[in-house]
Formats: sequence, C-alpha cells, structure tokens
Amino acid sequence: MLDLRFKPINSRNVEDVCALHRAAYLDDHFSSKFNDQLLSKYYLHLSDLNDGLCFISYSGTQAVGFVIAGKSLNNKVKEFVRLNRIAICFVILRNPSFIIPKIKSLFTRFSKSKWKSTADLRVLSIAVSPQFQGEGVGKSLLAHLESELKHLDTKLYGLSVKKSNIGAQEFYEKRGFIYEAGDKNSLYYVKELI
Ligand SMILES: CC(C)(COP(=O)(O)OP(=O)(O)OC[C@H]1O[C@@H](n2cnc3c(N)ncnc32)[C@H](O)[C@@H]1OP(=O)(O)O)[C@@H](O)C(=O)NCCC(=O)NCCS
Repeated sequence: MLDLRFKPINSRNVEDVCALHRAAYLDDHFSSKFNDQLLSKYYLHLSDLNDGLCFISYSGTQAVGFVIAGKSLNNKVKEFVRLNRIAICFVILRNPSFIIPKIKSLFTRFSKSKWKSTADLRVLSIAVSPQFQGEGVGKSLLAHLESELKHLDTKLYGLSVKKSNIGAQEFYEKRGFIYEAGDKNSLYYVKELI
C-alpha cells in the first residue's frame, strides 16, 4: 500500500488535478474537451466552499489521485457554466458530438419530473493516475473522504457513474455503494455511513 498524503485542492496544486484528469478520464467526458485554463478554472470553482471534501493525494511528490465531493455541487457546476457560458459554447461548437446531449440536458434540467437522489452530498469526480490504478489509491481516497464526512455527521452520500464505465461501477460496489436508480446514460449509487 502506498503512503499517501492528502491536501485540499487550491491554486497551488490545481495543475496536478488537471494532469490527473487528462490522464484518467476518457475523451467522452465533456470536461476533457476544456483547454488547460478552463479546466483549472472549473476545478478551482468546484473546490471553493468545499474545503476538505475536494482533495488531491500525493505519494511523495507524485500526484496520484483526487476527489471532488460536496453539497450542492450541481449548483456549483451550473454556476460555473453561467459564469463561463461563452467559453463553454466554444467548447460545444468545437466538439459537435456534444451539441445534442447538451440540448437534451437543458430540457431535462427544466423538467419537473426529473428524478432526484436521496443523497444531497455527492462525489462529482474521483480519478487515479492510470500508473497507480489497482494499488488501493481509490480505496484510500474514499476512506479519507468518509472520515471527513463523519466529522460533518453525514449519514448518506452518493454519486453517478456512466453506464459504460463498468470498471468504476465494480469499484463502487466493492466499496459498499448500492444502486439507487438509473437513466439512459447513468447509474446512481448511494452509500450509508455507519
Ligand atoms: C475508478 C478508480 C477511481 C478506481 O481507483 P483504483 O485506485 O484503481 O482502485 P483501488 O485500487 O483502490 O481498488 C479498490 C477495489 O476496487 C476494485 N476495482 C478497481 N478498479 C476496478 C475495475 N476497473 N474493475 C473491477 N474492479 C475494480 C479493485 O479490484 C479493488 O478491489 P478489492 O477491494 O477487492 O481489492 C480508477 O480506476 C479511475 O481513476 N478510473 C478512471 C476515472 C473514473 O472512471 N472515475 C470514476 C468516474 S464515476
């Protein structure tokens, strides 16, 4: 098992977060299409106000993984999109395969019948450097997050995962997450903290 140190995400380490993001996430993630400046703005925006729940882990000086979690993260994402709408429009125009999914997500956002998870605190992103995957880093990231959540007296937290991301689903199920619901593209999981 690696000896890991955890640090809150901030302007000093956000470049390491972006490098991990680019290495770990597949190209079908919309945020993978952001340029370096927009991606670091995105992670700094999300980590703001969520101190302690958005952190990066290091083994020595090597960044090995990160987690973005918190309450009201959907609102933080919406706020980021609002504040950076011109840059986001350019990303969509440069990547036309995202035009239809983004229009559809606009419609579901305003739909009253949209399903809502019972967990208001969620993990938006967790990633481990491909070089270090399978060595217990993901497990340690979740364990560190859960120890922080217990301080906050959180009993339940959740996340969503793409249906196509079978590896991550197996990872979450092994870490005690339970399937809550699913839609065309994603599965929603929750975990009770005891
Ligand atoms: C998903 C991810 C965070 C897991 O991190 P990791 O450091 O590789 O996982 P760990 O080594 O801590 O594995 C913990 C357990 O999950 C299992 N596991 C991890 N990845 C797995 C996979 N792809 N398939 C099956 N099981 C897996 C491990 O076998 C291990 O099981 P054990 O507890 O019985 O030993 C990492 O693979 C990753 O960054 N993936 C790309 C980004 C991503 O998809 N993030 C999730 C977005 S929803």
